[in-house]
Amino acid sequence: ATGNVTLDEAFGNTASCRSEITFIDGEEGILRYRGYPIEQLAEQCSFVEVMWLVIYGELPTKEQVEKFEDELVHNMFLDERMRDLFRCFPRQSHPMPVLSAGICALSTFNRNHVGLGAEDVEIATRKLLAQVPTLAAYAYKNSKGQPFLYPKYDLSYVENFIRLAFGTPAEGYQFDESITQGLNALLVLHADHEQNCSTSTVRMVGSSQANLYVSVASGVNALSGPLHGGANQSVLEMLAAIRDQGIDPKDYLEQVKAKKAGIKLMGFGHRVYKNFDPRAAIIKKYADEILSKSPNGDKELLSIAKRLEEIALEDEYFVSRKLYPNVDFYSGLIYEAMGFPVEMFTVLFAVGRLPGWIAQWREHNADPKARISRPRQIYVGHDKRDVVPMDQR
Ligand code: SDX
Repeated sequence: ATGNVTLDEAFGNTASCRSEITFIDGEEGILRYRGYPIEQLAEQCSFVEVMWLVIYGELPTKEQVEKFEDELVHNMFLDERMRDLFRCFPRQSHPMPVLSAGICALSTFNRNHVGLGAEDVEIATRKLLAQVPTLAAYAYKNSKGQPFLYPKYDLSYVENFIRLAFGTPAEGYQFDESITQGLNALLVLHADHEQNCSTSTVRMVGSSQANLYVSVASGVNALSGPLHGGANQSVLEMLAAIRDQGIDPKDYLEQVKAKKAGIKLMGFGHRVYKNFDPRAAIIKKYADEILSKSPNGDKELLSIAKRLEEIALEDEYFVSRKLYPNVDFYSGLIYEAMGFPVEMFTVLFAVGRLPGWIAQWREHNADPKARISRPRQIYVGHDKRDVVPMDQR
């Protein structure tokens, strides 16, 4: 309660739902999954632990998480016929629509378990968690014309994803521990974010009692937009354009302020965070660490990004509009240093956000009073008017 009104009275008619999963305080830059601060989770927990926390509500025991991860790894294989799905797409297809199509296809391969009952929901949960990383890796391999590998039971969930994306049948894959740890932390940081555009989409589609697979595929589609998850790709393209065209970062920001050709400072701004995005601060630390060690790390782009941030945080235009780096500003630089091409950045966001989409869909459909989402509008069109016969138009 704030003052003498309850949260329901204050926000009830604007909030899209009530949720126990993620808490955000946009003014204070606070983000917690099931009450646990994101800073602690990113530092101390594996992505699989955080999947369990976000979906089932509690941190898992050692036995629970080992059994869970083992089950996921043993389910990372796709039905062999799904491998042909990728061949239907043009080689240069962006992996996000391929991922969305692949997830929809999963519902057809599991068509006998797409109900809303607890057993079907659990099967769909585990299938999606296990097979979305495989779909993501194969979408990438397909775009390179490279062979698909099979998961390995002796690797972790994140290691399997990395190997499926970068490994070749020609030789064993050599893991770089800093990349595995860095990707694990990035996936934790993306796991949920209350009612963002893609999560609200998953809840809305799921509110019609559409199954979990197609609801998650809808979330992938919403995430692909450059104003949302697609921003991490746009940031890298923006930084590369500034470098390649030899634009001074200060001059670029003047173009943004002049609203020239609708360009924005991609990776900046947020509807909820109005002082800082706690995830951006953590990711920036990883960017320094991973780019300093990685041969793929583009240190020049990192310095351009830091310069843009430094100038913008001192500039009245950005400060007055409460524009600060968001989760996407530095993440792409790390993904590039890990060896991922820019078109895979939003796919990585989707792999991270998957447990949040699943948890939020489950939360809606577990509510016995759940209703179909049906937003209203303010009509600003014509008053009533009569049809004019064709020969008088
Ligand atoms: C994500 O919701 C979530 O939680 C999302 C997310 C998650 O984890 O799910 O956090 C992930 O999507 C992060 C955001 C990634 N997108 C970008 O980085 C794209 C660039 N950012 C902007 O498009 C924008 O800041 C949004 C979309 C993030 C937020 O948009 P809002 O809240 O609708 O803000 P707005 O458009 O109303 O802007 C208010 C003012 C405007 O100026 P005026 O018209 O008042 O003069 O700020 C300006 C905008 O022009 N502005 C920007 C800007 N963002 C807002 N100006 C320049 N560069 C920007 N990035």
